[in-house]
Amino acid sequence: MITRIIYVILVFTILLAFVGCNGQAKNNNPSVPITPTEKSTLVGGGCDGCELMYVGMPTDIFSVDTSSGWNEIGKKLLVKGTVFKLDGKTPAPNVIIYYWQTDDNGYYSPKDGMDEKAIRHGHIRGWVKTDKNGKYAIYTIKPAPYPNEDIPAHIHISIKEPNIPNEYYIDEFVFDDDKFLNAEKRKTMENRGGSGILSIQNSDGLQIAKHNIILGFNIPNYLEKI
Ligand SMILES: [Fe+2]
Repeated sequence: MITRIIYVILVFTILLAFVGCNGQAKNNNPSVPITPTEKSTLVGGGCDGCELMYVGMPTDIFSVDTSSGWNEIGKKLLVKGTVFKLDGKTPAPNVIIYYWQTDDNGYYSPKDGMDEKAIRHGHIRGWVKTDKNGKYAIYTIKPAPYPNEDIPAHIHISIKEPNIPNEYYIDEFVFDDDKFLNAEKRKTMENRGGSGILSIQNSDGLQIAKHNIILGFNIPNYLEKI
């Protein structure tokens, strides 16, 4: 009888261990890899590389940022807009937008002194935090497409909202006038956060793209009431 009770307790304990592991999505330590099960429950469904936003992240982040590419060779670009909540109307303050991009030659080029952990993002990377009206502005250069490939030039974006435990990606910023942004590629875009296609207006040598972001739009596992 005692043997039988011990057996039942043992089986129950094993079952609990399995159930208990399921669905623990939080990964507060970016150095610990996220398992596929965890990815499926994260807001955004997981993102390879977004966690590098924490590498070298400044304590104070402002709503306007000038990238290290600004004073390098390239077409000067200003991306600015408003980040809205899921309703598309309410401005979302204190949202961190992390961006990383290629240089004017299409490379994620490193720079002396940059943190080794973030080297795959290249040196043209930075952060903005939306102001009380949800506004942000990034002064940078237009990225060039990867050499010898037909992938549209792009700026990667990772979002960290104040009330969501993990970061997630939205559609890369691409450019409406890019010859590589053909109909086929446009069809495959996920429209995460809304369309990532930027229309450029030229103003005295500066290319300006107004671009709004809708938090949670087409984002898996997004809970509107978070
Ligand atoms: Fe890329």
